[in-house]
Amino acid sequence: MLKKTWLLRMNSLILMVLMLVCVNIVMAQDQSLSWTKQASGVWVAEVGKPELRNFTTTSGVKPKLEAIKAMQNVEFPLNENEIKAVVFDGKTYLHFPLEVGEKIFGLGLNFKTVEQRGRILRLHVDHYGGKDDGRTHAPVPFYVSSKGYGVFINSARYIDVWAGTAVAKDSKIPMNPKDRNTDKKWSSQPYSDNVSFLIPAEGVEIMVFGGPTALDAVSRFNLYNGGGCLPPLWGLGFWHRTPTLYNDEKVLGEVAEFKKHQFPLSVIGLEPGWQSKSYPCTYQWDPGRFPEPAKFMAQLKDQNIQTNLWMNPYISPESELIKKLKPYTASHTVWEGFVPDYGLPEVNTIIGDHIKKYLLDAGVSGFKMDENDGYDNWLWPDVTLFPSKIPAEQMRQLYGVMMQKMTAQLYRDQNRRTYGLIRASNAGGVSFPYVIYNDYYSHKDFITALINSSFIGVLWTPEVRGSKTAEEWLRRMQTVCFSPLAMLNAWSDGTKPWSFPEVEKQVAEVANLRIQLIPYIYTCFAEYAFYGRPPMRAMNLVDGFTSNDEKVDGKLNSTDNPYAQATRKEMKDQFMVGDNLLVAPLFEGETVRKVILPKGKWYDFYTGKIAGEAEVINAAPGLDKIPVYVKDGGIIPMFESAQTTLKSGEKNNLIIRFYGTKYADYKLYDDDGETFDYEKGAFSWRDIRVAAAKDGKLKGTISKAEKSKPDNIGTVKFQFMTE
Ligand code: GAL
Repeated sequence: MLKKTWLLRMNSLILMVLMLVCVNIVMAQDQSLSWTKQASGVWVAEVGKPELRNFTTTSGVKPKLEAIKAMQNVEFPLNENEIKAVVFDGKTYLHFPLEVGEKIFGLGLNFKTVEQRGRILRLHVDHYGGKDDGRTHAPVPFYVSSKGYGVFINSARYIDVWAGTAVAKDSKIPMNPKDRNTDKKWSSQPYSDNVSFLIPAEGVEIMVFGGPTALDAVSRFNLYNGGGCLPPLWGLGFWHRTPTLYNDEKVLGEVAEFKKHQFPLSVIGLEPGWQSKSYPCTYQWDPGRFPEPAKFMAQLKDQNIQTNLWMNPYISPESELIKKLKPYTASHTVWEGFVPDYGLPEVNTIIGDHIKKYLLDAGVSGFKMDENDGYDNWLWPDVTLFPSKIPAEQMRQLYGVMMQKMTAQLYRDQNRRTYGLIRASNAGGVSFPYVIYNDYYSHKDFITALINSSFIGVLWTPEVRGSKTAEEWLRRMQTVCFSPLAMLNAWSDGTKPWSFPEVEKQVAEVANLRIQLIPYIYTCFAEYAFYGRPPMRAMNLVDGFTSNDEKVDGKLNSTDNPYAQATRKEMKDQFMVGDNLLVAPLFEGETVRKVILPKGKWYDFYTGKIAGEAEVINAAPGLDKIPVYVKDGGIIPMFESAQTTLKSGEKNNLIIRFYGTKYADYKLYDDDGETFDYEKGAFSWRDIRVAAAKDGKLKGTISKAEKSKPDNIGTVKFQFMTE
């Protein structure tokens, strides 16, 4: 009897040992990755069993392979053996190497930080809540390295990221523990040589994008996702959203006020009150406030003003849509509205047909698609079931992309370009013509978000809503006019651009400057669409740029910093618009700021005078101006007048400014400004050249439009800004 028990015990012991050995083998066994080259400088590998639904299958957008092919051919940028992947416990574990001193950027639309090395994030679509913890409007699982490559995790799950914080025992750098008692060099964050991801799925597709520069890696990522969007010309004008309960007469009255104040206006945004009920939404016009919507919008169009409509996803039981739509909605409601399951073709057809008939065909030019992001208590919970069988988690990560896709397609079907607003996006959304905004309202953080948007293939607007002082108003207006979408969102406060009479003139000046800069900004967007280069971008994407101002500081003290955490200075308050303009916003309360000028000479945008060369300067241009600098040899094509109508087929006269002394070439983009015919070749790049003439003086030339290509350029004058 005793012998039998002993034997049994031995058996189970052996079994346990065997199991432990097996687990260890499974844990230790990294999956060897096989990288397939998809295009020049783009590699893909699969780990385990990747899920069918991811960002690229959801967006359905085709990569711009020809454009990628035209880029410099580069080698695989990492040591393949240093990339590790394990599938364990139903999840995928990934590790990518980091070199000493390497910086990483991206990993979502962050508002406070630009450099992500040293951060721990859970990438999760949400309304930004004031912390860079991964919960944000576009938690794109893509990072770009200062060493000139990018890594993309193509999974629409909540992904955990240890961005240079995890220390493995087999790190390349041997362990070197220090004694905190005596050694000042002791750090609460020992050196980590990797970026690690935990993906709650039994496999994933991963992609690596080569450079050689960080901007090249971002461009390849953007092109792989279909290239950036090209807005219609009117999209780059000035936008104004009227108070939510305004009716047609009040809106037309507001438009007349814009004329009276000689303030540019190309889009009117109607907020929830255009609908008969909201929230939840009916997606039907309110018969009292807008009895004749088509006539109303035609009146706006006669004045070259487009109409943009607010909506959120949640459909009212009283909407005429519900009869057909209800079977295709989720198990849970939001704000007592039904949640359409955009994973089903039926939903796209039912809502798409309705939108087309009552909105697009009546003259609506685009949408602001709100509240598809969070907070948690504003959205469906993760226990929600969707009839398409897409898990609620993936729905959360993808909903904004799905709404963009559906509405963008409706306009594409009519060969009309649209441009609008979205509060949730993600990796699949690069090519969709939408700009992210939110309810958060820190002016400084809005600029950091604008900078971060450039790493991850999304657009962001630091919209203006209201201000406590005239100074703040003007400073906010100045920055929004250098952003992808220049908008005053007066839905709640009813603020007008001229609400602060003390600065009305200056506000009008910067809005007019925005309009005049459209040829330059439109060309930046064409470069986004054709070459994947973000129109507004971080200084860290400027070739050869190094911040001279980076000091790491972190003194030990018992209350604020008991573990001596380092605090970093990052480039989060100045940015580039295209290759030639550097914008360094001033914030309320500031009269002077530091600006870091990259290598080469830089000139003051307003005066043409030299501002500096690879140095830190102090900018104090007064309240009237936002500091803007132009690169040596910078060609800036502008409309001669801010009064241009941004109407397709109308020729506009240009003033082409030139800064500095270096001879330069520039390609100015031109097309019809409103259709997709450019995708079939109906566009031109006009060559602008500045060089010395026979008399030694600078001379500018512009090539003629090619035969049978669009030609919207009237007279051209060159203005040499630097004496
Ligand atoms: C918010 C949105 C605002 C405004 C408002 C209308 O969610 O961010 O811009 O549209 O809804 O109710």
